[in-house]
Amino acid sequence: MDMTYGDYLQLHKILDAQQPLSPEEHDETLFIIIHQTYELWFKQLLHESNFLRVHLQAGKESEALDTLHRMLVILKTLVSQADILETMTPISFYSFRTRLQQASGFQSLQFRRLECQLGQKNPRTLTLFTAHPAFESLSHDYEAPTLYDALLQFLSQHMGVAIPVDILQRPYSQPYTGDARVQDLLLTLYRERSPRVALLERYVDLDEGMQEWRYRHVKIVERTIGNVPGTGGSAGLAYLRATLFQPSFVDLWALRSSL
Ligand code: HEM
Repeated sequence: MDMTYGDYLQLHKILDAQQPLSPEEHDETLFIIIHQTYELWFKQLLHESNFLRVHLQAGKESEALDTLHRMLVILKTLVSQADILETMTPISFYSFRTRLQQASGFQSLQFRRLECQLGQKNPRTLTLFTAHPAFESLSHDYEAPTLYDALLQFLSQHMGVAIPVDILQRPYSQPYTGDARVQDLLLTLYRERSPRVALLERYVDLDEGMQEWRYRHVKIVERTIGNVPGTGGSAGLAYLRATLFQPSFVDLWALRSSL
């Protein structure tokens, strides 16, 4: 039998996956679809992140830039999608919220993988996901070099930038808190108007994009549930606010005061 559109996209699975717990509440379908859409884009971001590493390892700068560009466009979409969810009023959300029980975006394994790949290595994250069917992928990301490590390795191996060996061989499961020697090397690239600056600036865009998403999410939470604790068990707004304005690629932000 010929392949159909529905077969190829496995639409029977995707379109059967919206099962509101309160079918009488109109907005629960939107709530489910928005979260599912985010998770699909998280999946694509992880796919592209892997591709970015492959390009950097192979010294393919132009391809790395193209992949970063795609990741940034996806991030912009993630941020602007918040507008759709904000058409749901707090009362509407409360009409089905209790049925969510402990379910929360807090438990998104793909989001935690993205965080790890960007450099947020929090040991508590791992312990929260030990029973998850995809735990292996998260623990792999936790032990692996971050996207910033991949950038420094690219600069060292393919562009002759003398990144210190202790940085290149650092324990990758530890958070990276910045290094003055690396900042000096990157500053030189900026001051010399090196073509590498384009790549560095796309990394800044990526970092900023993730922070923008967090900010939009905090505003969704603030306007929808105010200071009420989250279904995931956190303090809610206060917890989420503490995650704002925390850059992943610290060197790239620190050097801006010295340019
Ligand atoms: C009405 C809409 C939403 C509300 C009220 C809300 C509320 C919350 C709250 C209170 C938290 C803190 C953890 C907790 O105790 O539950 C949280 C975390 C989170 N939410 Fe949402 N959320 C909403 C929509 C979304 C959407 C659409 C996504 C997309 C996937 C999402 C993804 C996340 C993620 C990834 C976290 C973890 C953030 C972190 O730990 O830094 N949320 N959410």
